[in-house]
Amino acid sequence: MVDASWSCAATALAVVAAVAAALRERRANIAVCEGGDASDAPSSSSSSSSSSKPQRVDDSGGFADLVGNTPLVYLRSLSLATGCTIFGKAEFLNPGGSTKDRVARGIVVDAERRGLLLRAQPERCVVVEGTSGSTGISLSLMARSRGYRCHIVMPDDMAVEKSALLRMFGAAVVEVKPAAIVHAGHYCNVAAQFAREDVAAVEKSTAAAAAAAGEPAGEPELRFYADQFENEANWREHYRTTGPEIWRAVTEDRGLKLDAFVMSAGTGGTIKGVSTYLKERDPSIKIFLADPPGSALANKVNHGVMYTPEQSERTVQRHRFDTVTEGVGLCRLTANFNGAPIDHAFTVDDQASVNMSRALLRDEGLFLGSSSAMNCVAAVEAARRLGPGHVIVTILCDGGQRHKSKFWSDAYLKSHGLSPPLR
Ligand SMILES: Cc1ncc(COP(=O)(O)O)c(C=O)c1O
Repeated sequence: MVDASWSCAATALAVVAAVAAALRERRANIAVCEGGDASDAPSSSSSSSSSSKPQRVDDSGGFADLVGNTPLVYLRSLSLATGCTIFGKAEFLNPGGSTKDRVARGIVVDAERRGLLLRAQPERCVVVEGTSGSTGISLSLMARSRGYRCHIVMPDDMAVEKSALLRMFGAAVVEVKPAAIVHAGHYCNVAAQFAREDVAAVEKSTAAAAAAAGEPAGEPELRFYADQFENEANWREHYRTTGPEIWRAVTEDRGLKLDAFVMSAGTGGTIKGVSTYLKERDPSIKIFLADPPGSALANKVNHGVMYTPEQSERTVQRHRFDTVTEGVGLCRLTANFNGAPIDHAFTVDDQASVNMSRALLRDEGLFLGSSSAMNCVAAVEAARRLGPGHVIVTILCDGGQRHKSKFWSDAYLKSHGLSPPLR
């Protein structure tokens, strides 16, 4: 008798091998995307139409097709408590689980347009990034869908769930000690260095090895540094997608007037992209920044100077921020934050963010990450400032699953002097 499990496994292997071969062939034929991107790639039906025209390879499908068009969720408890209508944009429903999926798609497609990543030769390409985790997760999935490799450098104090996911997705992960941005060991500097200078060494050693073996040298590796902090494809993707989606959902789908948008800043890409778009549609819309303790952005927005009280107590800044929230706050001005039209900033203390996260789970059934909770605290602050009757949108950046060992761990919170609220 044929062993059913063996034959299934053999069939599955054959299918996997056939898919890999088809993908290789498809990529070799790619003539794609002059001026196009994942969202306007042709559908399967349109790509197989004419026999005489040069065939445009159907390049849609997978990760990039699922990014964006996330729903707005009505946050009833916050709305009832303030007399305003408060919505959260459910970015945690993106395929990689966070708002960073948009950035990964935007940056990679932009790099392909500029010839920095080669669709037809994905095996040569490596996407390199320094990230606190979320962007790496999104980039590693986007890279997978294009056949690129991914190399991620991250601080070693981020929730362990993030590095575990990155490794599971096939990315090479380097964890470094937290350091100031002016230090060569800062995760962004380590990533940039890897992308920049080591290429020459790799090329040299590959060419030397090929020469020693009497073989022709292969094509050199192409390392692309995504640079989410300074690469302006980041905020432009939010300007192109997140801003219009919010505008449409509030004004066209629900017939409401949008009064305010509230968001934190990690790179600044979301708040700059969305606020620039919304202010163009209606300059009266107020933009509020939510900032964690230890970040200098709130002072910059409210008083014009990058400053955080924590800096005055230090001679050497060892850790970026004194907060348990992850992925948000900055002590430098990035290209993706600079110029964002922000009206006012709220500093949100960690205990308020922790309390909000537990309240959102209890009252709304929403299990969210630290920055989402912080944004919701600031949305309530904005509602109080504006008064009842206003419509406010904030961003629910990611879910709680990635934060179980830290922000959602009672023991971790206690070790940081915070009280886990009663459930
Ligand atoms: C979970 C999470 N929320 C919010 C942000 C901030 O978004 P942005 O980089 O667009 O300012 C980040 C950035 O890394 C993040 O990881």
